[in-house]
Amino acid sequence: PLNKRIKDLMKRMTLEEKIGQMIQIDRTKATPDVLKKYYIGSVLSGGGSVPKKEATAEDWIDMINGFQKGSLSTRLGIPMIYGIDAVHGNNNVYKATIFPHNVALGVTRDPQLIKKIGAATALEARATGIPYVFAPCLAVCRDPRWGRCCESYSEDPNIVRSMTEMVPGLQGDIPSNGRLGVPFVANKEKVTACAKHYVGDGGTVKGINENNTIIDRHGLLSIHMAGYYSSIIKGVATVMVSYSSWNGVRMHGNKELVTGFLKGTLRFRGFVISDWAGIDKLTYPWHTNYTYSILEGVNAGIDMVMLPYNYTEFIDGLTYLVNNNFVSMTRIEDAVKRILRVKFQMGLFENPLADYSLTKHLGSPEHRELAREAVRRSLVLLKNGANADEPVLPLPKKATSILVAGTHANNMGYQCGGWTITWQGLSGNITIGTTILSAIESTVDPETKVVYKENPDSEFVKSNNFSYAIVVVGETPYAEGSGDSLNLTIPAPGPDIMTTVCASVKCVVVLVTGRPVVIQPYLAQIDALVAAWLPGTEGQGVADVLFGDYGFTGKLARTWFKTVDQLPMNVGDSHYNPLFPFGFGLTTEPVKA
Ligand code: IFM
Repeated sequence: PLNKRIKDLMKRMTLEEKIGQMIQIDRTKATPDVLKKYYIGSVLSGGGSVPKKEATAEDWIDMINGFQKGSLSTRLGIPMIYGIDAVHGNNNVYKATIFPHNVALGVTRDPQLIKKIGAATALEARATGIPYVFAPCLAVCRDPRWGRCCESYSEDPNIVRSMTEMVPGLQGDIPSNGRLGVPFVANKEKVTACAKHYVGDGGTVKGINENNTIIDRHGLLSIHMAGYYSSIIKGVATVMVSYSSWNGVRMHGNKELVTGFLKGTLRFRGFVISDWAGIDKLTYPWHTNYTYSILEGVNAGIDMVMLPYNYTEFIDGLTYLVNNNFVSMTRIEDAVKRILRVKFQMGLFENPLADYSLTKHLGSPEHRELAREAVRRSLVLLKNGANADEPVLPLPKKATSILVAGTHANNMGYQCGGWTITWQGLSGNITIGTTILSAIESTVDPETKVVYKENPDSEFVKSNNFSYAIVVVGETPYAEGSGDSLNLTIPAPGPDIMTTVCASVKCVVVLVTGRPVVIQPYLAQIDALVAAWLPGTEGQGVADVLFGDYGFTGKLARTWFKTVDQLPMNVGDSHYNPLFPFGFGLTTEPVKA
């Protein structure tokens, strides 16, 4: 019946209406009238265009339903689908639960936990009226210099593959009689997912964003393709193409891999979406030959095009290309069929308007508890005292006075990282949650004095006779592009704080970073070292483990280099000589109450 509904509808659609379905515009360009006039198929809140921080769940629903009414008032009333980057929780929305970034979740190696996080993310997206999320990121990041390494579960394809349980988490489990490759979104508490960025995004030269991935076909399939087949089997509804190139060919124009391999060999039946202005980048500088970009992208097999700037040019260009037989009607129909299939299958025609009954799930206590568990399980203990007989962790809750220092101890924005509230992330008290400092304060014995000083000088540290110190330092937030780093050093004053404090008092350093960073020069001075990655809003999970309510269990899902000139370095390389190998992680036992 699904195919019949699609066929019936397509028979009645004009070329203009079909091309409209293929377009996704940014919310800043969208109005109900624009959606109606151009039959626009989808709208997104691009990273740079999310509504103001204080927008409530109800405000979001009002906005999205407002757009939807424009689509519903078209001749055929085909609903639009609203998409957003919810990559570690519904991260653009104030009050949402922000889960640890994928680099942390890979450490847990627990697909069932990841599935639960997917389900919670789906509910929190639906709580704000959002039916479509651009997640999971299935990049197999091979070089931590890449600024999107924090979005990658692991350097290891097997871990990435196992983490595709995020797909049924977001979309629901496919029925036992489900057909291979057919998109499946179970109900209106679930969302359409998007496996991204197809393919090879994590393999670019020196980890430079949007760059070239140089690898033979066998390597591409064995390493970077790992998550895709598995997601398709689980019914993933959409796939986003990567900005990067494979051996010099831009993925947005790669017909062999998009049409031939993904839609052909892997039998993917959902729709393929471009990245933000992805087809614009097929010719450079933008718009020198935009019509050619459209030709190349659409003929490569892209079904829906993310068009933040120039949808009328796209409409004119594609209409010209179809009318002059550069793009076939069969290609257009393939694209529209796929888009309608997802919309029909997920029930968007039956329930185009979001209701307000799910708003209660936004930042719910259950989801925060789940995020806290994920934090606990993603911590990796890299050093614990000079030797196994003198462990520093777990820390005693009862002490005379302890020092908490560092730029990242009391900064919600820093502990959440990029893709939080805004695209590039923020500094400061940006949303609701528990900072690592406040978690420490509420975990220690009431008699223990906690002294917080972000950047203490040496005199202060020496003169106060602290029982021990916890130093929390790390990277400042970044997202795509801006996060690329050739030196991977901890930004100032982080290194100074570590050395000043650790020179005079027993210290535990907690790193808040999206990837391994340069730590070897400080290691001898540090008494205990914990990688906390980008834990998100639930900093309590860090204190739970530091003070022994739970043990350390996490094992590195990335190799930790000694010096950046070793990069790229991954487990299995012939020149493997890391500081901490893939799979490393010391353990502690929980302290009995
Ligand atoms: O989904 C993202 C993608 O991961 C990177 N570029 C922008 C897209 C939409 O915001």
